Amino acid sequence: ARGVHKRAYSLSVQSLLQQSLLATSYPQLTAQNTLFRRSHQPQTDYQSSAVLSLGLPAKERMPAAEAVLTRLTEANTTMLDRADVTAPGFINVTLRADWIAQHAFTMATTGVQPRSAGDHKQRVIVDFASPNMGKELHVGHLRSSVLGDTVCNLLEFQGHEVTRVSHVGDLGSAIATLLVQAMDDADNEACSLPPRTDLLAASASAADLGRWYERGKQRLTTDAAFKSQVDSVVLQLQKTDVSAWTLPWKQTCAISRAAFATLNARLNVTVQERGEATYLPLIPKVLDLLVQSGLAVESQGALCIFLDGQDKSPMLIRKQDGGFLYATTDLATLYSRIHGDPSIDPIAYDRAIYITDLSQSLHFRHLFEAARRAGWTDHRPVQLDHVGFGLVMGEDGTKLSSRKGGSTSLEALLNQAGIESAQRSVVDDADHGYIGDAAVRYYDLAQHRERNYKFAYSSVLNLKGNTAVYLMYASARLQGIRRKAGLNEPWTAVLADPASAAVLLEASATWHPTERALALVLSQFEDALLETQAGWHPHMLCEYMFRLTTSFHAFYEACRVQNHAPRLVLCAATDAVLRKGLALLGIAAIERM
Ligand code: ARG
Repeated sequence: ARGVHKRAYSLSVQSLLQQSLLATSYPQLTAQNTLFRRSHQPQTDYQSSAVLSLGLPAKERMPAAEAVLTRLTEANTTMLDRADVTAPGFINVTLRADWIAQHAFTMATTGVQPRSAGDHKQRVIVDFASPNMGKELHVGHLRSSVLGDTVCNLLEFQGHEVTRVSHVGDLGSAIATLLVQAMDDADNEACSLPPRTDLLAASASAADLGRWYERGKQRLTTDAAFKSQVDSVVLQLQKTDVSAWTLPWKQTCAISRAAFATLNARLNVTVQERGEATYLPLIPKVLDLLVQSGLAVESQGALCIFLDGQDKSPMLIRKQDGGFLYATTDLATLYSRIHGDPSIDPIAYDRAIYITDLSQSLHFRHLFEAARRAGWTDHRPVQLDHVGFGLVMGEDGTKLSSRKGGSTSLEALLNQAGIESAQRSVVDDADHGYIGDAAVRYYDLAQHRERNYKFAYSSVLNLKGNTAVYLMYASARLQGIRRKAGLNEPWTAVLADPASAAVLLEASATWHPTERALALVLSQFEDALLETQAGWHPHMLCEYMFRLTTSFHAFYEACRVQNHAPRLVLCAATDAVLRKGLALLGIAAIERM
């Protein structure tokens, strides 16, 4: 869409082919139906079904394809080696080896540098890794963190200005339930839970918070007095009364914050906290605006927004008792993000991306629709996206749970990955704690975002599969090759040498098929990024990384690299792209493995 892509993706092979196809000036071809796709046939690099989408009668398709082909080959002598047409009207192209060599080299040098988004630069806020305070992080929290962090990396790489926020749930019934339980020493003692002093001194652990919460949740259904106390604490927290609950609330947040930070660091996730409570001061004003605009209406003592007609599930934004809900704080938050606020969101954002599980799709559809209908986006276009994801399941396809029941804690899951990495590995002296964390992060990203996936250590740590271990191993092997070649600086020195491009170009005339295949994959890095960003599907970048690594191994197996200058250039290029891809996915390569 828009002119954005032309500049930002000038290195995309598919875009270049597309442009040359358009330049054939075949009258009916338009930008939409000309896309070249990677071909899966051995003798062909790319294929286009452009002519088939023109709606021509069957007998005119092949002649039309032939006509396009003739102009395409005449116009594009530097890029194309061979081109032909196959029934019922596909156009197949094979690229010239020297063009691939040049493009692969460009990709490894300029293609891995951060971009400048120029006039298209957006100020983007990404809302991710936003658990509720007091919750012990479980495997379900993994996805938002690693997807969100990766989305941010990609946006930053494209030259956008990115604000990474963790919109933690620090208000509402979950934290209130925990607080009321934690402060009830009689019940704590009866259930062998820690005493309240542990909370007040912030000496309780994140697991203790989880236990108080679970106990409180049980009582909510059976103990009416307990429930009404929780409701009243919700209100007190929302009114920011300086009350008996302020200290335990602060301590709960402090304990959780520290636990979240530890896990985020292990997963290489960078984010700053800007929780629900931050937006409390804006709520009265935003509710007034919504009422004035006629969007929010009283209904049985509550305040509601009816978006899908009078009787379908409304957005409840103020309860009968005056309490606010998830939708209320999110409306105030979105108002602030769109308009900016001197003390909360100093920037008025051009785009907001929310990353949560798919069960919240309706919430976000309502939220965005309400903002539009309230006219908040009238004066300036603001792009609002919910990027939803599926569940993490156990090997048997049911919800992943620990032996004790309940979801597996994320910490336990990561620790176990480190242990299993050590057991499965061929090397002993590696940092298996690090490898385990990286492997879990990568495996999550390698799954289709919108689908549920099964978590099994045998897949997460598979030495030959599409895993972090496989990629990191390739990267470490590349460093070994470099050291053996007597190169002590990083490979980038090879790429910085002006002679290197010429060396590679000359060698392309006599390439082994595995050399050509590797260079072709290298030239496709930009296309992989393009695909990945189009719908925020990091698994596409992971698939690319896997193809790159597999091609590298095939090349390394078939070709002698030692003392072979052009092949060392190819290794240097592979290393550059491999590292960049890993970095975008949030994984730092390791030197030896
Ligand atoms: N705290 C919520 C949860 O645990 C996620 C918040 C996502 N962000 C937002 N602005 N609603 O499900």
